[in-house]
Amino acid sequence: MNASEHGPQPDDEILDDDLDYDEDLDGDDDVRTLDVTALDHGDRRAPVGRAEVDTLLRDGELDMEGRLLDASNVTLVGAIRTQTLAATCVYKPVAGERPLWDFPDGTLAGREISAHLVSEATGWSVVPPTVLRDGPFGRGMVQLWMDADPSVDLAEFVRRDDPGLRRMAVFDAVVNNADRKGGHIIPMTDGHVYGVDHGICFSVDPKLRTLLWRWAGRPLLLEHVAVLEQLAEDLRGELGERLHEHLTRREVRRTQQRVADLLRTQLHPQPSGEWPALPWPPF
Ligand SMILES: Nc1ncnc2c1ncn2[C@@H]1O[C@H](COP(=O)(O)OP(=O)(O)O)[C@@H](O)[C@H]1O
Ligand SMILES: [Mg+2]
Repeated sequence: MNASEHGPQPDDEILDDDLDYDEDLDGDDDVRTLDVTALDHGDRRAPVGRAEVDTLLRDGELDMEGRLLDASNVTLVGAIRTQTLAATCVYKPVAGERPLWDFPDGTLAGREISAHLVSEATGWSVVPPTVLRDGPFGRGMVQLWMDADPSVDLAEFVRRDDPGLRRMAVFDAVVNNADRKGGHIIPMTDGHVYGVDHGICFSVDPKLRTLLWRWAGRPLLLEHVAVLEQLAEDLRGELGERLHEHLTRREVRRTQQRVADLLRTQLHPQPSGEWPALPWPPF
């Protein structure tokens, strides 16, 4: 990440004391060593359908099991449970956000929520269900954990002409995603592709940084143009207002502008040349 730090770092000690670290997590940099499917939920069941997912994310009790050590911010993973429902989730407290030179402090969770709102408006479900709520370390974003297809080789997958990746490329152009690295792409067993970590989206400056450049300069698919036309309308209405709960007016206007630019050119954008086009590290 090009963004550099200033100011204090998140208080790791509070987290180290309060968290029940999994033995495998301790001292290991690899998130995959935590078996998130092995969390004990008693006789609770997984939520079925969006309404149950939303209820669980909003009202569930958070029981964080560990910290994703390869994450750049304080990113916790664990269980979320109501009396009847349970799932694995990610919780990123605002208090654990690492200060960045190019994004105002304390705004990353709101950007994740905004990305989810845009994702929902497109109907593409790029972003897993995400809410802003209180948790054990204060307000933060809580997102449903999506189990990636373990058989997919990400390095090979991201080069594919995959429809899920192509619409993700359009989505990223809309939200101005500065961090679409491999680890932020979650291919599912049913072929759907989720994207995660949208904390550094919606800058007013062009910052698109992604691995998904294979369609750059190519015409947008007509079905994507249709979605963008609807999105342009939504952004002028309620969606724009909802985004403004988390973004500045200027950031919302720039989002409208990016959609308008895509509709005008009808092309997948190309690297601007003024900003590193590829995320580092790529995975
Ligand atoms: N909702 C999710 N479902 C599945 N995996 C996730 C989810 N959120 C994050 N991850 C995994 O955890 C890693 C770290 O989370 P990320 O959101 O990138 O944190 P950070 O903002 O600290 O970089 C991601 O690269 C991804 O592999
Ligand atoms: Mg990340």
